[in-house]
Amino acid sequence: MNMRTRVGIIGAGPAGLLLSLLLSMEGIDSIVLESRSREEIESTIRAGVLEQGTADLMIEMGIGERMKREGFVHHGIELRFDGYGHRIHLYELTNGRGITIYPQHEVIKDCIAARLNQGGHILFNVKDVHLFDVSSRQPIIRFLHGNEQIELQCDFIAGCDGFHGVARSSIPATIQQAFTRSYPFGWLGILMQAPPSAEELIYAYHERGFALVSTRSPELQRMYIQCDPQDEIANWSDAMIIEELQIRLATKDNWKLLVGPIIQKSILAMRSFVIEPMQYGRLFLAGDAAHIVPPTGAKGLNLAVADVRHLARALTLFYKQNETHLLEAYSTTCLKRVWRTEHFSWWMTSMLHRFPDDDSFQQRMQRAQLEYTVSSRAAATSLAENYVGLPFNW
Ligand code: FAD
Ligand code: PHB
Repeated sequence: MNMRTRVGIIGAGPAGLLLSLLLSMEGIDSIVLESRSREEIESTIRAGVLEQGTADLMIEMGIGERMKREGFVHHGIELRFDGYGHRIHLYELTNGRGITIYPQHEVIKDCIAARLNQGGHILFNVKDVHLFDVSSRQPIIRFLHGNEQIELQCDFIAGCDGFHGVARSSIPATIQQAFTRSYPFGWLGILMQAPPSAEELIYAYHERGFALVSTRSPELQRMYIQCDPQDEIANWSDAMIIEELQIRLATKDNWKLLVGPIIQKSILAMRSFVIEPMQYGRLFLAGDAAHIVPPTGAKGLNLAVADVRHLARALTLFYKQNETHLLEAYSTTCLKRVWRTEHFSWWMTSMLHRFPDDDSFQQRMQRAQLEYTVSSRAAATSLAENYVGLPFNW
């Protein structure tokens, strides 16, 4: 069977779904192809922090109602080390900006509902996705849907299929350059049925390793501890995880972690990755398909949103005015923010984690950086403006 659309979008993550919605606001049709089921993508636990600009964009797009009702706006975060907490006053340091805690799978649910309500096409459970002729004016995506082999003719292809996707490999090896860094630690992440232990997120530096306290709802908390990336989750009993959290988060004034049953736990690896350029012919990569950051800065989803906002604008200019300069500038425009965010995420990660081959010099450097960050307004402002997110046109 043959199908045709203006923009063929591979992947129904935040990047792909938001792109399809942004394009439809401009009357540009698209089809989203997703290899997993709707149930699976609507229940995968991932990010939790939306930058101010991401939350504002969702409201502007008319998909922010549930986020406004159920999400939590935070005006600060805590950096905790040596038994003391230090508040970074995001709101005051950034002229009134903050973050919204609203889980990624809820963003996904809102986007899918909005797109299907408009009569938009999202094909779930597709298989064997292959891209052809991406450097021509009529790129093609071939895939299986059910038992049917489908050929989708497009004007453009958006590769929004995440780090393990197929789109990236259509950029010839002679043209693409990949930059990577892997870290000698992972995160063990849990969901715990308990009330929140704090009003804001806590990022803790401890000699036994990093710990992070985040939240999902008044009844469900999200927490992470630094662990060996090769470790297996079966090696960690619930009691061990709770004990480790209590040790790493302990304060001199006996702060208490409120605990309850752990209902989900897993270990994730951490890496930094960027591919340059993010475009080849009529293929445009966006989100994790083009770059990965370690989660310490809470940036991955937000960076994906910034990419597709640029891409939607560039495609709109093309369709409305036959102008290609924004499309031509896409990779350069995105990469500026990508590298800023790569640096911020690497910096937060390096400051807050314990490295296995740590020497005392490196530990003194980390402490010096932490002390400077919490005691200098200039240093705290730098953290704050990156954390709440730089303006989209940065
Ligand atoms: P993805 O969400 O990976 O979506 C890609 C989609 O493409 C997937 O649904 C996949 O099934 C589909 N796909 C893959 N291959 C194919 C194919 N061949 N054909 C069709 N479809 C395909 N970011 C933040 O901003 N804030 C945070 O607080 C944060 N915390 C995180 C915590 C954890 C534990 C993790 C793992 C990540 C976190 N992130 C965070 C990062 C964030 O989740 C990602 O950056 C984000 O999901 C990227 O969105 P995306 O749409 O580019 O890719
Ligand atoms: C989360 O809530 O999952 C979360 C929060 C902050 C981070 C990473 C993840 O830096």
